[in-house]
Amino acid sequence: MPETHRTQASPNLRHGSNAGQPLTRRDGILKVTGRASYAADNHPEGMLYAVCAVSTIARGRVTHLDVEAARAHPQVVEVITPANRPPLAGDPEGKHGLFAFRLEALQNDRVRYANQPIALVVAKTLEAATEGASLLKPRYEVEPARVGLDVERFVPEAVGVGAPATIAHSDVETGLSAAPLRIDATYETPSQYHNAMEPHAIVASWDGDRLTLDTPNQAPHMARAAYARFFGVPPENVLIRTPFIGGGFGSKAILAGAHILCVLAARMTGRPVKLALTRAQMFGPVGHRGETRQRLRLSMETDGRLKAVSHHAIVATSSFDDFIEPSAAVSRMLYASPAIATTHEAVRNDIGTPGPMRAPGLASGSAALEVAMDEAAEACGMDPLDFRLANYAEVEPITGKPYSSKALRECYAKGATEFGWSGRPRDSRQMRDEDGFLLGLGMATAVFHCPMFAAEARAALRGDGTAIVETSAIDMGQGALTALAQIAADSLGLDIDQVALRFGSSDLPDGGVAGGSGHTATAGSAIHAAGGNAVARLAELATADRESALFGAGNIGVIARAGRLHRKDDESRSESYAGILARAGLAEIDGWGKGARDPAAVGDHALQAHGAVFAEVKVDPELGQVRATRLVGAFAAGRIINPRLVRSQLYGGMIWGVSFALHEGASMDRRSGRVMNADLSEYHVPTNADVPSLEALLVHEDDAFVNGLGVKGVGEIGIAGTVGAIANAVWHATGVRVRKFPVRIENIMAPSAGA
Ligand code: MOS
Repeated sequence: MPETHRTQASPNLRHGSNAGQPLTRRDGILKVTGRASYAADNHPEGMLYAVCAVSTIARGRVTHLDVEAARAHPQVVEVITPANRPPLAGDPEGKHGLFAFRLEALQNDRVRYANQPIALVVAKTLEAATEGASLLKPRYEVEPARVGLDVERFVPEAVGVGAPATIAHSDVETGLSAAPLRIDATYETPSQYHNAMEPHAIVASWDGDRLTLDTPNQAPHMARAAYARFFGVPPENVLIRTPFIGGGFGSKAILAGAHILCVLAARMTGRPVKLALTRAQMFGPVGHRGETRQRLRLSMETDGRLKAVSHHAIVATSSFDDFIEPSAAVSRMLYASPAIATTHEAVRNDIGTPGPMRAPGLASGSAALEVAMDEAAEACGMDPLDFRLANYAEVEPITGKPYSSKALRECYAKGATEFGWSGRPRDSRQMRDEDGFLLGLGMATAVFHCPMFAAEARAALRGDGTAIVETSAIDMGQGALTALAQIAADSLGLDIDQVALRFGSSDLPDGGVAGGSGHTATAGSAIHAAGGNAVARLAELATADRESALFGAGNIGVIARAGRLHRKDDESRSESYAGILARAGLAEIDGWGKGARDPAAVGDHALQAHGAVFAEVKVDPELGQVRATRLVGAFAAGRIINPRLVRSQLYGGMIWGVSFALHEGASMDRRSGRVMNADLSEYHVPTNADVPSLEALLVHEDDAFVNGLGVKGVGEIGIAGTVGAIANAVWHATGVRVRKFPVRIENIMAPSAGA
């Protein structure tokens, strides 16, 4: 298990508090020297290789597999199909919790989507397993695939992770018809696939009824419970090691059927087995962002104040499970209006079940809402920023709850100044650059909620003056390990380089879920409490000890700083941690802490992070080619633990926003129900040359309610505003409204698209 120790920060950056410092990543050197090892880098002795055979149809039945041919391959060891798949203790069709999805673990011969596993071939080499899988030559009974949003709709029980499908207040229809100005527009967002750099991989080893798994996972304890259930062993018998993760974005918060099959293969063969999905196989079984069509109807008074907002989303989910992209939820969060209705309907397609994908709901929902707000501003003859300010929500729309903190006005102001928003011509097609390209400026609001999960941590102060902090928290590239170490060091009164963090393993205290942008708040709160508890226990020792300079100071009469406890009433009287432990004859003293949201502390507050994003695009007037050239975002997300890493997270989100606006989308073959661009050459994401000049400004925000650390979260908010800002800049450059994502040349250059 890795222990990270060193930061590469220059000493002059440190002045007492570790949190707040722009430290570089603690795991940076491991990463750039290739010493950070990922799941598929593991090769336990005697390991076999598994390869999934996957369905090439989207709906129907597998009628034949040439298992004999695969078994005849000299290096093939086992072929698992529904015909010989041993029983599982847990039902793959079961739903065991909010993040549990129905899985395809060869329970029968049904095909529910393209790329569904239909067999697993295990062999002595990867090449042999691949060849063995190709020998199966499946035959199917094919049924027509249900594709797209124009099929029968239903109202889902919930959207996202347990949110209501419908929330409304007041009479929206009356508000829409009574107002003098209104817009009514429909927006479409495609299905998108996470496709992290590191594919979903797993190395499974059984030792009797003990199971060890090397596999990337955003929630090791939750995954441990799931594997234990599927295989009928106690959770303590399952060890999940996930020290480094090459991107997750939500797709690694959940298990896939392929994971289960690999563990099964290890049990059947009595040997460790490795399975890594191919790039193409990740288009289907491991979640995606569902396709949406969203109708926005907004009505306004002539002074630009909203009178009614109706946000209706139709989204696609699978035929057998119910993750519903919560696109309309953004209209519950952002703008004041006397009447608001947010509603969802869903359709069933023959696709893998969608799931949480970075900024679920808010990425797709704000893409639509923020363009609609721009259209509404135009209808009112107002500047888009002024229009948003005219509809600024002083309290959370619909619920009327006060915000725990909300520095969105400051974000607008700071972003607008840095970007140079003032003086922008209000009409479209007014600006050109020196090369004759159409130039456009757009803006949008970013918003994200602040969830927290339950977590635990242990912190131990050691006799040599160092400390070790343990929690199963993970780092999927976001910099969590560095930020958490900063929190740990402060809670222990140590410098960060004296604190080792043990992480990414399910035998450590439950670090909760790295999701919902809540990981720093979640695991950080647990670590903060554990560190405080360790220091308090050390102080008890010292203040009860007649030989200590701290004797009689009382528990609350000491402070911890730089590896020493000081008396508060006389800071010159102090003693080192090492000294206290040595006299007590202890090698270490530890503390435990939990992190979870305290509903009493939150009170009746709405918890959100905010931002404002400004975008510049250039459009070739002859070719319709769009380039985002400049992005400025200003974000307020509570206390910033590490500004360098936070900016990096915001850049990542903003780049994803560029991707959403201009590049990304799965193309479905409507006849076969297969994704046609199931690779990273035709599924477009931005390359370096597509990424504009980026600036992410951090707006100061103190929050006394959100949690004890005052931390909100920054992982996802960067996407939310960027999509709309770019789309609105495209309109400003061209006069063509973006209502379909990603922006494509044919949508810009359509004959009706103005001249
Ligand atoms: Mo994320 S989509 O909350 O991992």
